[in-house]
Amino acid sequence: VEKKQMSEELEKELVLQIMTMPADTNPQGKIFGGFILSKMDQAAGILCGNYDYVTKAVNNVVFHAPVDIGDVLQCYAKIKNRGTTSLTIKVNVHVKDTYNTLVCEGEYIMVRTDNKGRAVPNE
Ligand SMILES: CC(C)(COP(=O)(O)OP(=O)(O)OC[C@H]1O[C@@H](n2cnc3c(N)ncnc32)[C@H](O)[C@@H]1OP(=O)(O)O)[C@@H](O)C(=O)NCCC(=O)NCCS
Repeated sequence: VEKKQMSEELEKELVLQIMTMPADTNPQGKIFGGFILSKMDQAAGILCGNYDYVTKAVNNVVFHAPVDIGDVLQCYAKIKNRGTTSLTIKVNVHVKDTYNTLVCEGEYIMVRTDNKGRAVPNE
């Protein structure tokens, strides 16, 4: 199991890094979950490789640990499944600390669209 987890981690690409700021907090002073989700969405979009993709669904999101102001978030992403019009992108967010703490994960369903916004097959 350990080996499998390790190879899955290696397949993931670091697609986005960001330093969290005071404006990104919730009333408890921790980083707002919606802020993290928007960064994951951007990471999924970047991994799709072009601007043809829109976010259709976000599944299985789990927030594992709180994030503090000044923490550097690292979004790792990989293509988990290629459908007809969709790509399922697994995104893991780690804090850049000694432990590389996993703080959030989720699956972003990205659908390829044409210039009229209709779903079209992946290339
Ligand atoms: C994207 C859009 C064009 C797709 O329209 P559609 O023709 O009805 O297509 P569907 O949503 O039925 O299916 C598209 C793909 O998404 C998949 N899908 C849809 N809902 C899903 C869900 N909840 N979980 C996983 N996959 C899902 C379908 O299985 C299909 O995949 P496949 O072609 O690879 O088999 C349309 O829904 C849209 O414009 N949505 C708004 C997108 C947007 O503005 N996003 C920005 C965030 S607000």
